[in-house]
Amino acid sequence: MVTVLVGTQWGDEGKGKVVDHLAAQADIIARYQGGANAGHTVVVNGQRYVFHLIPSGILRPGKVCVLGNGVVIDPVSLAEEIRLVEKQGVNIRGRILIAENAHLTLPYHKLLDQVEDKRREKAIGTTGRGIGATYVDKYSRVGIRVVDFLDETIFREKLRTTLPLKNYLLETYYGEKPIQAEKVEEEYDKLRPFLQPMVTDVSLYLLESINQGKRILAEGAQGTFLDVDFGTYPYVTASHPVAGGVCTGLGLPPYKVNRVIGVAKAYTTRVGEGPFPTELQGELAEGLRQTGNEFGSTTGRPRRCGWFDAVLVKYACRLNGCHELVITKLDVLSGLEKISVAVAYRHENVLIKDYPLSSYVFSRVQPVYEEMPGWKEDLSSARRFNDLPLAARQYLERIEQMVETRISLVSVGSSREQIFQR
Ligand code: IMP
Repeated sequence: MVTVLVGTQWGDEGKGKVVDHLAAQADIIARYQGGANAGHTVVVNGQRYVFHLIPSGILRPGKVCVLGNGVVIDPVSLAEEIRLVEKQGVNIRGRILIAENAHLTLPYHKLLDQVEDKRREKAIGTTGRGIGATYVDKYSRVGIRVVDFLDETIFREKLRTTLPLKNYLLETYYGEKPIQAEKVEEEYDKLRPFLQPMVTDVSLYLLESINQGKRILAEGAQGTFLDVDFGTYPYVTASHPVAGGVCTGLGLPPYKVNRVIGVAKAYTTRVGEGPFPTELQGELAEGLRQTGNEFGSTTGRPRRCGWFDAVLVKYACRLNGCHELVITKLDVLSGLEKISVAVAYRHENVLIKDYPLSSYVFSRVQPVYEEMPGWKEDLSSARRFNDLPLAARQYLERIEQMVETRISLVSVGSSREQIFQR
């Protein structure tokens, strides 16, 4: 049984918390794309955990966490994350598996990502974690895979073949200092014994596990509108957060995927640059940012905040084939007199009901809003749908209608107990 959890907005939908909740009913939690650009926050018993590469399922004792071939692995970041999470008392021994054919993020990827984005006429606002640069090398067929890294000779050979071109770019075009092969080798050689025991044929492991009746939860990072093909290109990440990414990112046959669960925040946020039709400014935006603690888990950047965009979430539900939708952070909307939801867009006096794939058009649309009454009550102690005030229930019911997908879970706070079935 394979269930996929996918973000239906621009990432930061609260997937980490939902994974932690659903992981209770899974045996294996698997990441299929992205890298250390992700930031999944989970609060358990007042303790805050932030994950970048490790699936948040690691907080459920005994569950196995997998990083598939679609993920780009920064071993320095992974080692640091494991050190931190172990310090917080989590036993990870034997519980993390990494695909042999996943690509490695190396120091030149991180540096190139940062200098390239600075040099762009219109910056993308990347996380600077080397994600795009690693995927570029993967598709240029000059990447270094985990399996290559495990063999010291192959690693050296590949590194020394690739590095001169990277250094040429860094020095000549970007005016940076070159990266020395010896330094990279010295730092990365130390990480080999740490990585080695975790490396396996993930596709085979997952298929065997499925055949043994194990339940797999595939955890997407980022969100649908950061997908390199379906997102707001070029303001996207370099991988496939959409549900389709599961098959290529974990090595699973399509017919093995049974269920797709979308996650949407009760409003919208975005970090980094790019169009965002329902973005708010001023007091309203600041209110959502402060109440919702909308600051990036990876970079600490303030997130841009706006109203719920039903056009986007409806498109995401259709594209990913969501069987159900989880709504997070409903509590953040408490205290607002009125709440708006975008139901369509207007572009040059034409009404658009669907998400336009042209970034030119999308960056110029005006949202058409439907206004709904807000509610005053604090929702943080709600544990059932009927505990919610009438206006909050009506808000969810209207969203369900607009995005044509059933809401199955509602989250009303960051801690583990603050989530309940619809
Ligand atoms: P990159 O993934 O670092 O290349 O960044 C590309 C875009 O995706 C930027 O706008 C980032 O802010 C955004 N992004 C990457 N990872 C996340 C995430 O986990 N949550 C939200 N936005 C993200």
